[in-house]
Amino acid sequence: MDPVFTPLDATFGAVVSHVDLKKLSSETWQSLNRAFNKYGLLIFPKQHLSIDEQAVFAARFGEIEELTSIEGLKSVPLTNMRQDGGVIDENDDMSLILNGNEGWHTDSSYMPVSAKASVLSAHVIPVDGGRTGFTDMRAAYESLDETIKEQIEGLSAYHSLYHSQNKVGHEAKAGQLEGVISGLNSHQIPLRPLVKVHPETGKKSLFVGRHAYGIPGLSEAESEKLLIDLIEFSCQKPRVYFHRWNVGDLLIWDNRCMLHKAGTFDRSEPRLMIHTRIAGDPQSESGVEVA
Ligand SMILES: [Fe+2]
Repeated sequence: MDPVFTPLDATFGAVVSHVDLKKLSSETWQSLNRAFNKYGLLIFPKQHLSIDEQAVFAARFGEIEELTSIEGLKSVPLTNMRQDGGVIDENDDMSLILNGNEGWHTDSSYMPVSAKASVLSAHVIPVDGGRTGFTDMRAAYESLDETIKEQIEGLSAYHSLYHSQNKVGHEAKAGQLEGVISGLNSHQIPLRPLVKVHPETGKKSLFVGRHAYGIPGLSEAESEKLLIDLIEFSCQKPRVYFHRWNVGDLLIWDNRCMLHKAGTFDRSEPRLMIHTRIAGDPQSESGVEVA
C-alpha cells in the first residue's frame, strides 16, 4: 500500500501512515520526498527506529551533517540523562544550548552551510511537556503586507550561536562552543538574506530565527525590532503546530522553510531524543559573506 498523508490543521505538515521506514522502496521514498517538499514537516508515528536505522533513513535526503567530533557518529542523543541514569548538570554548554533551543530557530543557520533538514525521534519522554513547535515560514512570507515585503527584500542578517546564547544569558567566550558543536567557527559569521528562495520548490520564505541579528544598513535597535516583529507575526495560527510526542515517533522537517523550537519540560525527568541533521547544499545554503 502507498503511504497515506493526512494534512495537519495548519498551512503545512502531514502525518504519514501505512509506511515502514525500515523498508522503503525507491518509489515510496520518492513519494515521501515529494511530500517533504510540499508539506515541510512529515510526522511518522510508531516507527521505533534504532539510531542506525534513523541515520539510514536520513541519508536518503542527503549527506549527514556531523554534529560531534566522534567520527562516524551520524545521529546524536539530545538528552538530559547521564550514562548512570541521572540528569546532567544544568550549567554545561550543551544543556544551555538545549535551553536556548526553546527559542524559534532553524538548525545550523550559524554554520557556514545551513542545514537542509532535521530528523528527530522520541525514545524516552517526560510525563508532560517537551512539545516541539514548528512554523511554516513560506506561509508567513506569503501573508506579509506588500510594504513589508518590499522593506525586507534585499536585507540580510548575521547568524551566530554565540549571539543567540548570549541573549538567553549563556555567555560563552570565543572558541568555547566549538568544543560542543563540531565545525563551528566563532570567527566566521554567515550573513543570510531575510527572504530565502527554496532551492527545490522555488518558493520564497522568511529566513529568520533566534540566531539572526545585526541587519546591515539598520541600527542595532531597528534590526532587533524588525527581527522580533517578523518572528512574532510568523509564529501564529494557522502557521504553527506543536507536536506532542509519543515514544517511537519520528519527525523530519525542512530547515530551509520552517522554524522550530523545543518545548519546556520538567528537567528532573529523563528525556532522550535522537537527532540526525542533513547537510544543506553549499550552492544554496552557504552564507553570502563572512564577517
Ligand atoms: Fe533545533
